[in-house]
Amino acid sequence: SWTTGNVIEEQVAAIREQVGNKRAICGLSGGVDSAVAAALVQKAIGSQLTCVYVDHGLMRKGETEQVEKDFVAATGVQLKVVDAQERFLTALAGVSDPETKRKIIGREFIRVFEQAQAEIVAESAGTGEDVAFLVQGTLYPDIVESGGGTGTANIKSHHNVGGLPEDLEFELVEPLRQLFKDEVRMVGSELGLPDEIVQRQPFPGPGLGIRIVGEVTRERLDLLREADAIAREELTAAGLDREIWQCPVVLLADVRSVGVQGDGRTYGHPIVLRPVSSEDAMTADWTRMPYEVLARISTRITNEVRDVNRVVLDVTSKPPGTIEWE
Ligand code: XMP
Repeated sequence: SWTTGNVIEEQVAAIREQVGNKRAICGLSGGVDSAVAAALVQKAIGSQLTCVYVDHGLMRKGETEQVEKDFVAATGVQLKVVDAQERFLTALAGVSDPETKRKIIGREFIRVFEQAQAEIVAESAGTGEDVAFLVQGTLYPDIVESGGGTGTANIKSHHNVGGLPEDLEFELVEPLRQLFKDEVRMVGSELGLPDEIVQRQPFPGPGLGIRIVGEVTRERLDLLREADAIAREELTAAGLDREIWQCPVVLLADVRSVGVQGDGRTYGHPIVLRPVSSEDAMTADWTRMPYEVLARISTRITNEVRDVNRVVLDVTSKPPGTIEWE
């Protein structure tokens, strides 16, 4: 019968058998799937695993630290953090088109990841336990969706480690490929990962880069990070994290409107709140969340975030609107 204990035992044995005394690497995205896959492989082969986390500077407040501290504390994994903020900002300079942003972020991500990979491979070369395996947090629905052939139109370019080129000479280790998301969460908890990682809401690979409508700059990222942190804090405080599937916070960087703040006129940017309820993100409804919580978020964002003088609520379902704005 299915228990998380059985799944872990079976997978640990299978991973040991597959990897032997070689080494493996795993890209961490900050998301649930890669974290649980890494924790499982770590349990199986310990220090033969190295994780790589690319900090592209498009993460939310505290996210990189969470991977660095909480994940390492919970698993004891060897982690290589690559600070690539400058590189991503430079690559994104002057770009406003959503698909172009996505492609640039995906491309840079793969380059940085491959470079880190090459370094790890070089460090291990000739030790008799060369890196030969790449761990991926592929889930059962991912496999069904990509092979299912329902011919879904390509609406947005998703970029994960899953989009790595095929000429990489690695054998894949995919210990979650028979599991659904809720099962992955259970396995993660059983492996000792904290709720902050296991119960995490979805967050897109391109991060805040696709939540700034307009060009991505350091100042805009800082501003959006503040607004997003306030919204998340208030949603958590109100106990809405489970009811809400995710709540993108979007900066309309190219829009300005007139406001009155403090002693005078301001000409600032709007922030959009996009709380959605969903089963699988394929469709979604906007969440009818309590007005008091919306009011608190609005007051705090306009008081605490410089250059923001308006907070608006997105009341569009998916379809017709996608969850993310870009
Ligand atoms: P959309 O905007 O297409 O989003 O309705 C559906 C779900 O996917 C997430 N999302 C992404 N996740 N890489 C990811 O890993 C991406 O490029 C990406 N784009 C969107 C989005 O947050 C929502 O949960």
